[in-house]
Amino acid sequence: MSDTVTLTIDGQKVTVPAGTTILNAAAKLGIEIPVICYHPHLTANGLCRICSVDTGGRLQAAACVTACSEGMEVNTQCDDVMRSRKTILELLASTVDLHEAPEILTLMESYDADGQRFVDSEKRTAPIYDDNPFYLRDYNQCINCWRCVQVCADDAQYAFALNFDGRAYHTQIGTFMGDGMMDTTCVFCGQCVGVCPTGALKPKRQALLELGENPDEIFFQTRGGRKRRKGKNND
Ligand code: SF4
Ligand code: FES
Repeated sequence: MSDTVTLTIDGQKVTVPAGTTILNAAAKLGIEIPVICYHPHLTANGLCRICSVDTGGRLQAAACVTACSEGMEVNTQCDDVMRSRKTILELLASTVDLHEAPEILTLMESYDADGQRFVDSEKRTAPIYDDNPFYLRDYNQCINCWRCVQVCADDAQYAFALNFDGRAYHTQIGTFMGDGMMDTTCVFCGQCVGVCPTGALKPKRQALLELGENPDEIFFQTRGGRKRRKGKNND
Protein backbone atom coordinates (compact mmCIF):
# COMPACT_ATOMS: atom_id res chain seq x y z
CA MET A 1 0.00 0.00 0.00
CA SER A 2 1.29 3.44 -0.98
CA ASP A 3 2.26 5.88 1.73
CA THR A 4 0.59 8.71 -0.15
CA VAL A 5 -2.71 9.34 -1.87
CA THR A 6 -3.50 11.73 -4.69
CA LEU A 7 -6.88 13.36 -4.94
CA THR A 8 -8.57 16.38 -6.45
CA ILE A 9 -10.06 19.15 -4.34
CA ASP A 10 -12.05 21.87 -6.09
CA GLY A 11 -10.32 20.90 -9.33
CA GLN A 12 -6.77 21.01 -7.92
CA LYS A 13 -4.66 17.87 -7.56
CA VAL A 14 -2.88 17.28 -4.28
CA THR A 15 -0.77 14.42 -2.92
CA VAL A 16 -0.78 13.86 0.84
CA PRO A 17 0.38 11.16 3.26
CA ALA A 18 -2.15 8.34 3.62
CA GLY A 19 -4.50 9.04 6.50
CA THR A 20 -4.54 12.80 5.97
CA THR A 21 -8.00 14.28 6.46
CA ILE A 22 -9.74 16.19 3.69
CA LEU A 23 -9.59 19.24 5.94
CA ASN A 24 -5.80 19.13 6.12
CA ALA A 25 -5.35 18.25 2.45
CA ALA A 26 -7.51 21.25 1.51
CA ALA A 27 -5.48 23.47 3.82
CA LYS A 28 -2.37 22.36 1.95
CA LEU A 29 -3.93 23.86 -1.19
CA GLY A 30 -4.92 27.01 0.67
CA ILE A 31 -8.60 25.99 0.62
CA GLU A 32 -10.29 26.85 3.88
CA ILE A 33 -13.15 24.63 5.01
CA PRO A 34 -15.20 26.04 7.91
CA VAL A 35 -15.06 24.25 11.25
CA ILE A 36 -16.89 24.60 14.56
CA CYS A 37 -16.40 21.52 16.73
CA TYR A 38 -12.94 20.80 15.33
CA HIS A 39 -9.92 22.16 17.23
CA PRO A 40 -6.41 21.56 15.86
CA HIS A 41 -5.08 20.31 19.21
CA LEU A 42 -7.97 18.02 20.09
CA THR A 43 -9.31 14.73 18.80
CA ALA A 44 -11.87 15.44 16.10
CA ASN A 45 -15.25 13.78 16.52
CA GLY A 46 -17.14 15.05 13.48
CA LEU A 47 -20.06 16.34 15.49
CA CYS A 48 -21.23 19.64 14.02
CA ARG A 49 -20.91 18.71 10.30
CA ILE A 50 -20.24 22.30 9.25
CA CYS A 51 -17.13 21.04 7.45
CA SER A 52 -19.20 18.77 5.20
CA VAL A 53 -17.95 18.44 1.64
CA ASP A 54 -19.11 16.59 -1.45
CA THR A 55 -17.07 13.51 -2.33
CA GLY A 56 -19.37 12.19 -5.04
CA GLY A 57 -21.22 9.83 -2.70
CA ARG A 58 -24.82 9.90 -1.56
CA LEU A 59 -23.89 11.61 1.70
CA GLN A 60 -21.61 14.55 2.33
CA ALA A 61 -18.45 13.79 4.31
CA ALA A 62 -17.22 15.64 7.39
CA ALA A 63 -13.82 16.92 6.22
CA CYS A 64 -12.33 17.02 9.73
CA VAL A 65 -12.65 13.25 10.23
CA THR A 66 -12.68 11.80 6.71
CA ALA A 67 -9.38 10.51 5.40
CA CYS A 68 -8.45 11.23 1.79
CA SER A 69 -8.50 8.28 -0.59
CA GLU A 70 -6.78 7.69 -3.89
CA GLY A 71 -8.57 9.36 -6.80
CA MET A 72 -11.15 11.05 -4.56
CA GLU A 73 -12.84 14.08 -6.07
CA VAL A 74 -13.84 16.59 -3.45
CA ASN A 75 -15.96 19.66 -3.91
CA THR A 76 -15.91 22.01 -0.94
CA GLN A 77 -18.15 24.72 -2.35
CA CYS A 78 -20.91 23.26 -4.52
CA ASP A 79 -24.49 24.43 -3.98
CA ASP A 80 -25.50 21.40 -1.89
CA VAL A 81 -22.56 21.86 0.45
CA MET A 82 -23.17 25.58 0.86
CA ARG A 83 -26.87 24.93 1.54
CA SER A 84 -26.07 22.27 4.16
CA ARG A 85 -23.73 24.60 5.99
CA LYS A 86 -26.24 27.40 5.95
CA THR A 87 -28.95 25.12 7.33
CA ILE A 88 -26.67 23.78 10.06
CA LEU A 89 -25.96 27.36 11.16
CA GLU A 90 -29.65 28.23 11.11
CA LEU A 91 -30.50 25.18 13.17
CA LEU A 92 -27.80 26.00 15.69
CA ALA A 93 -29.07 29.57 16.00
CA SER A 94 -32.60 28.30 16.49
CA THR A 95 -31.80 26.40 19.67
CA VAL A 96 -28.67 27.88 21.23
CA ASP A 97 -27.78 31.35 22.44
CA LEU A 98 -24.88 32.25 20.16
CA HIS A 99 -24.39 35.87 21.14
CA GLU A 100 -20.90 35.15 22.54
CA ALA A 101 -19.79 32.82 19.74
CA PRO A 102 -17.98 35.23 17.38
CA GLU A 103 -16.63 32.58 15.02
CA ILE A 104 -20.08 31.09 14.49
CA LEU A 105 -21.63 34.53 14.05
CA THR A 106 -19.01 35.32 11.41
CA LEU A 107 -19.86 32.07 9.61
CA MET A 108 -23.55 32.94 9.74
CA GLU A 109 -22.78 36.18 8.01
CA SER A 110 -20.63 34.58 5.34
CA TYR A 111 -23.24 31.90 4.59
CA ASP A 112 -26.07 34.40 4.72
CA ALA A 113 -27.72 32.22 7.38
CA ASP A 114 -31.01 33.46 8.78
CA GLY A 115 -31.00 33.12 12.57
CA GLN A 116 -34.79 33.52 12.58
CA ARG A 117 -35.54 30.82 10.01
CA PHE A 118 -36.66 28.29 12.62
CA VAL A 119 -37.94 30.90 15.02
CA ASP A 120 -40.62 28.62 16.53
CA SER A 121 -38.23 25.84 17.44
CA GLU A 122 -37.61 24.86 21.04
CA LYS A 123 -34.79 26.82 22.63
CA ARG A 124 -32.22 25.08 24.78
CA THR A 125 -32.90 25.97 28.39
CA ALA A 126 -30.44 25.05 31.07
CA PRO A 127 -29.49 26.40 34.47
CA ILE A 128 -26.38 28.52 34.89
CA TYR A 129 -24.00 26.53 37.05
CA ASP A 130 -22.16 28.74 39.50
CA ASP A 131 -20.62 26.07 41.70
CA ASN A 132 -16.97 26.98 42.02
CA PRO A 133 -14.84 30.12 42.38
CA PHE A 134 -13.24 29.91 38.95
CA TYR A 135 -15.71 29.55 36.12
CA LEU A 136 -19.38 29.55 35.23
CA ARG A 137 -21.14 27.05 32.97
CA ASP A 138 -24.07 28.34 30.96
CA TYR A 139 -25.29 25.48 28.81
CA ASN A 140 -27.85 27.73 27.13
CA GLN A 141 -24.82 28.76 25.09
CA CYS A 142 -23.46 25.26 24.56
CA ILE A 143 -23.44 23.67 21.10
CA ASN A 144 -22.26 20.25 22.39
CA CYS A 145 -19.05 20.53 20.40
CA TRP A 146 -17.33 18.20 22.91
CA ARG A 147 -14.11 20.22 22.98
CA CYS A 148 -14.27 20.76 26.75
CA VAL A 149 -14.83 17.05 27.34
CA GLN A 150 -11.90 16.09 25.09
CA VAL A 151 -9.47 18.53 26.69
CA CYS A 152 -10.53 17.46 30.18
CA ALA A 153 -10.05 13.81 29.22
CA ASP A 154 -7.23 12.07 27.40
CA ASP A 155 -6.37 14.87 24.98
CA ALA A 156 -4.73 16.90 27.73
CA GLN A 157 -5.72 16.91 31.37
CA TYR A 158 -6.78 13.33 32.21
CA ALA A 159 -9.18 14.70 34.80
CA PHE A 160 -12.37 13.30 33.22
CA ALA A 161 -14.53 15.75 35.15
CA LEU A 162 -16.87 16.44 32.21
CA ASN A 163 -19.02 14.14 30.14
CA PHE A 164 -22.47 14.17 28.65
CA ASP A 165 -25.67 14.38 30.59
CA GLY A 166 -29.28 13.78 29.50
CA ARG A 167 -30.58 12.13 26.36
CA ALA A 168 -31.65 13.00 22.83
CA TYR A 169 -32.61 16.65 22.43
CA HIS A 170 -31.78 17.27 26.10
CA THR A 171 -28.25 15.91 25.86
CA GLN A 172 -25.79 18.40 27.24
CA ILE A 173 -22.41 18.48 28.89
CA GLY A 174 -22.39 17.76 32.60
CA THR A 175 -20.64 16.12 35.50
CA PHE A 176 -20.97 12.62 36.89
CA MET A 177 -24.41 12.39 38.53
CA GLY A 178 -24.75 16.17 38.16
CA ASP A 179 -22.30 16.78 41.00
CA GLY A 180 -21.19 20.35 41.64
CA MET A 181 -17.78 21.02 40.10
CA MET A 182 -16.06 21.15 43.51
CA ASP A 183 -17.12 17.52 44.07
CA THR A 184 -15.72 16.23 40.79
CA THR A 185 -12.22 15.38 39.65
CA CYS A 186 -11.87 18.89 38.13
CA VAL A 187 -8.49 20.46 38.86
CA PHE A 188 -9.60 23.91 37.62
CA CYS A 189 -6.88 24.08 35.00
CA GLY A 190 -9.12 26.27 32.82
CA GLN A 191 -8.41 24.37 29.62
CA CYS A 192 -12.09 23.70 29.00
CA VAL A 193 -12.76 27.43 29.23
CA GLY A 194 -9.90 28.06 26.80
CA VAL A 195 -11.29 25.78 24.07
CA CYS A 196 -14.98 26.64 24.41
CA PRO A 197 -16.04 28.48 21.23
CA THR A 198 -19.31 29.91 22.50
CA GLY A 199 -18.81 31.53 25.90
CA ALA A 200 -20.73 28.70 27.57
CA LEU A 201 -17.72 28.33 29.86
CA LYS A 202 -16.50 31.63 31.18
CA PRO A 203 -14.00 32.73 33.83
CA LYS A 204 -15.99 33.91 36.80
CA ARG A 205 -14.05 37.15 37.10
CA GLN A 206 -14.86 38.03 33.51
CA ALA A 207 -18.54 37.23 34.01
CA LEU A 208 -18.76 39.32 37.14
CA LEU A 209 -16.94 42.27 35.56
CA GLU A 210 -19.38 42.09 32.65
CA LEU A 211 -22.22 42.22 35.16
CA GLY A 212 -20.71 45.45 36.49
CA GLU A 213 -19.73 44.05 39.86
CA ASN A 214 -17.22 45.79 42.05
CA PRO A 215 -13.65 44.39 41.68
CA ASP A 216 -13.27 44.02 45.50
CA GLU A 217 -16.43 41.94 45.63
CA ILE A 218 -15.17 39.89 42.69
CA PHE A 219 -11.89 39.26 44.49
CA PHE A 220 -13.84 37.90 47.47
CA GLN A 221 -16.07 35.70 45.33
CA THR A 222 -13.25 34.21 43.29
CA ARG A 223 -11.26 33.41 46.41
CA GLY A 224 -13.87 30.96 47.61
CA GLY A 225 -16.76 33.25 48.52
CA ARG A 226 -20.01 32.45 46.74
CA LYS A 227 -22.91 34.39 45.51
CA ARG A 228 -26.18 32.64 44.75
CA ARG A 229 -27.24 32.51 41.13
CA LYS A 230 -30.01 30.54 39.49
CA GLY A 231 -29.07 26.91 38.91
CA LYS A 232 -29.42 23.56 40.56
CA ASN A 233 -25.81 23.19 41.59
CA ASN A 234 -25.33 26.32 43.64
CA ASP A 235 -25.41 24.81 47.13
S1 SF4 B 1 -19.35 23.95 27.00
FE1 SF4 B 1 -18.29 24.95 25.26
S2 SF4 B 1 -16.58 23.56 24.77
FE2 SF4 B 1 -18.04 22.39 26.01
S3 SF4 B 1 -19.37 21.35 24.55
FE3 SF4 B 1 -20.39 23.27 25.11
S4 SF4 B 1 -19.74 24.76 23.56
FE4 SF4 B 1 -18.33 23.01 23.41
S1 FES C 1 -15.81 20.76 12.22
FE1 FES C 1 -16.00 18.84 11.23
S2 FES C 1 -17.78 18.01 12.11
FE2 FES C 1 -17.51 19.87 13.23
